[in-house]
Amino acid sequence: MLFLNEVSKSFKLRDGLYKAVDNVSLEVNAGAVHGIIGASGAGKSTLLRMINLLEQPDQGTVTIDGLQLMGLPDKLLRKERQKIGMIFQQFNLVSNATVSRNVSIPLELAGLPKQERIKRVKECLIFVGLEDKEDQYPAQLSGGQRQRVAIARALANSPKLLLCDEPTSSLDPTTTVEILNVLKHVNSRLGVTIVIVTHEMDVIKTICSHVSVMESGRIIDSFSREDGEFRPAAESFSSYREEIIGKEREAYAR
Ligand SMILES: Nc1ncnc2c1ncn2[C@@H]1O[C@H](COP(=O)(O)OP(=O)(O)O)[C@@H](O)[C@H]1O
Ligand SMILES: [Mg+2]
Repeated sequence: MLFLNEVSKSFKLRDGLYKAVDNVSLEVNAGAVHGIIGASGAGKSTLLRMINLLEQPDQGTVTIDGLQLMGLPDKLLRKERQKIGMIFQQFNLVSNATVSRNVSIPLELAGLPKQERIKRVKECLIFVGLEDKEDQYPAQLSGGQRQRVAIARALANSPKLLLCDEPTSSLDPTTTVEILNVLKHVNSRLGVTIVIVTHEMDVIKTICSHVSVMESGRIIDSFSREDGEFRPAAESFSSYREEIIGKEREAYAR
């Protein structure tokens, strides 16, 4: 359903160009939960943001369900983007809006009539288990509850694809499991294809059907799960674990 063909992205720095994503091709099948794992700075977020063109690739193409997104007129691109939900590490909720208003905003932008919005907001809040929090503000919620609101908001327009950028990285282990379960349901019950960026191997192990390993702007390896194991070469997959965790520690120590 999603195809990135040889996409690259460079950023201008004071001392020249920095290639954050370097000639990456990636295919994600409908119904997959596709993980992208790598140490911080590997280019994961940049790659994810190119899928909905929040970041314009310098080169390459992005195709979703046979439609090439680059070069689409603004109005059509906005319509296509409505079919792509996104959630982030820091939730990105509107702090002075209630839970239900946060979920309603994408529906307002899509021009849905008020009565239908009310109905849809309720459905989405029930799906994430927050129907009793509709009148609260984000500051009154826990991290896990805030991420549930963000998931409800991302689901509001019934997307076929959900992009997740480190969705559990600011949550404790118990809450991480809860949120991963919600994402599992989004995939299995609603049939939404998921691309999830993470530096946590447990996230990959818990919910991903496929995984691509990213390093220095490139995808250096890919695995798919068969009979519970990542293949080919489950051993080489495990060997990334120490490597990635080690680099992550170095990056945060700096
Ligand atoms: N807007 C930007 N301007 C300049 N450099 C950027 C920008 N966004 C990302 N980068 C750089 O690109 C590299 C990859 O970043 P990112 O995609 O955020 O990596 P990751 O999500 O894997 O941590 C990093 O070195 C980062 O500093
Ligand atoms: Mg990132």
